[in-house]
Amino acid sequence: FDPKTPQYLTSDPSSFASVSANERWPVIITGAIDDLHRTVGEVTDEEKAKEGKSIIENLAKLKYELQHDRQLTPLDDDGESDIASYNKELEQRGTPHWHNVPWLYAECYLYRRIETFFALSKHWKGYDVFTRQKMSTFKSSRPAVLELAARYRELAQEAESGKGADGKSAEDIEQAEKLLFSEMCEICLWGNATDLSLLTSLTYEDIQKLQGSQARKASQSNIIVNDLDAAFQVMQKARKEKKDGERRVDIVLDNSGFEIFVDLILGGYLLSAGLATSIVLHPKRLPWFVSDVTPKDFSDLLNSMVDPQAFYTAPDDTGKTYPALSEKEAADVRFLFDQWSQFHQDGKLIVRPHSFWTTQGCYWRIPHEAPELFDDLKESELVLFKGDLNYRKLTNDAQWDTTTPFTTAIGPMGPKSGIRVLAFRTCKADTVVGLPAGEDERLRGLPNGGGDEARKWAWSGKWAVVSFSDGKA
Ligand code: F6P
Ligand code: MG
Repeated sequence: FDPKTPQYLTSDPSSFASVSANERWPVIITGAIDDLHRTVGEVTDEEKAKEGKSIIENLAKLKYELQHDRQLTPLDDDGESDIASYNKELEQRGTPHWHNVPWLYAECYLYRRIETFFALSKHWKGYDVFTRQKMSTFKSSRPAVLELAARYRELAQEAESGKGADGKSAEDIEQAEKLLFSEMCEICLWGNATDLSLLTSLTYEDIQKLQGSQARKASQSNIIVNDLDAAFQVMQKARKEKKDGERRVDIVLDNSGFEIFVDLILGGYLLSAGLATSIVLHPKRLPWFVSDVTPKDFSDLLNSMVDPQAFYTAPDDTGKTYPALSEKEAADVRFLFDQWSQFHQDGKLIVRPHSFWTTQGCYWRIPHEAPELFDDLKESELVLFKGDLNYRKLTNDAQWDTTTPFTTAIGPMGPKSGIRVLAFRTCKADTVVGLPAGEDERLRGLPNGGGDEARKWAWSGKWAVVSFSDGKA
C-alpha cells in the first residue's frame, strides 16, 4: 500500500536520517535514562525502585545496540495490538541494523520499544520520561505565551463588542478576516519550530527567539509553499453553505507545551469566528518523538493555566525563582483557560486518541489499517496535520523529487479521499514536495544550505511549507 518511491535510510550519509541515528537518538536515550534515574532516586518503595533500575538497564542496552549498529530485535509483547505489526514489518524488512534501516520505521520503533519497558512493568505503567522536559520548556516559553494571550483576549473582546466591524463594507470585513486567519495560522505553524527532539541542538534562548511576533513577521518569506488562501476559501464557503450545520475541524497534533498552546489559540479562534463549530484534537497514545502531545499533556497544560501565577513563579529544579506576572498578564492567561475549558465542557473541543498514530506506517495505510479513522476524518471540513513527523508520514518519508505535487505524494489521502488535508510543517527532514522547479537548488545554494551534497536547508526548522489538498472537491 506504500508508494514505490524509496524511503530515506539511516545509512545515507547525506541525509538527516544518518545524523539522527548517529547523534540525536543516543542523546535522547541518555536524557531518558537521566530522567528515570532521577525519579528512581525519589522513590521510597523498594520494589518500585528496583524495577525502575531494571528499566534503566533496558534503556542502556537499547542505546548500546544503536551505537554498536546491532540488529533491531522484535518488540516484547506488551498486550497492545500494534506489536504484531511492528514485528511483522521488522521481519519483512529483513531484521535490519540500526545504521542501515529506513529512518521512519526505525524512529517509530525506538519510541515504541521504550514504551514496552514501562508497559510491561508493574509499577511504571504510563510513566513518561519526557514529561519534565515538556513542562519546563513550556514554562520557558513564558514571554511568547503572555504576548499571545494578550493578543487573543483583545481580539476576542473586539469580536464580542462588534467594534471591528463598524462602518466597514462586506469586502473589507472579508479582507480583515482573511488576514486574521493567516495570522492565527502562522502562529500555529511556527509553534512547530520548537519540538524537543531537535532540542539537542537548540538552546532555550533560541526557542524564545523563534516564538515572538517579530520572529513571525521576519519568517513570513520562509514559508516556501503557502496554500493558506485555499484553506481560508473552503472554510468560508463551508460557513456560508452550512450556516447552522455542524462544521468540524480536526487537528492531528504534534508537540506539547508551546505548540499545543498555539494549536488551541487557532482552534479557539476558529470557534469564536464561527469558521468551525467543533475542533477534534488527535493526540498520541504514548510518549512519542520526545515532545508529542499525550492526553495527559493536554490536561497538564490546562492545569498549569488555572493558576498562571503559581505555575510561572514556582521555583524550577535548580531552585531558580521567577518574577511574578502582572495582574493583567495573569488575567489574560486565565481568560484563555476559561474559554478553552468552556469549549471543552460544551463538547466543542474534543480530544480523540487513536492507536494508529503511533504505529510505524505512513498515512497511505490509513484506509485499510484504520478504516474507521479514515471514515471519521471524512466527516471533517478540514484536517490539519501539524509538524514534521506528520508530514513525513503523509509522504512516507520518501525520496520524492521536490517538484512532485503534494497531492501525488500523499497518495490515498489526496484527491478523491473525501478528506481535506492541510499540512503545517516547519522542515526538519529531507522529504519536501510541492516546490517550484529550481527552488531546492536555490535553497541549497544559500549558506548552510547543503550544496550538491545534502538538502541541509530542510533540516533546521527555519523553512516551512503549508500544503493543501482538497480531497472533497
Ligand atoms: O528532524 C528531526 C525530527 O526529530 C524528526 O525525527 C522528526 O520527524 C521531527 O523532528 C519531529 O518533529 P515534529 O515534532 O515537528 O514532528
Ligand atoms: Mg513532534
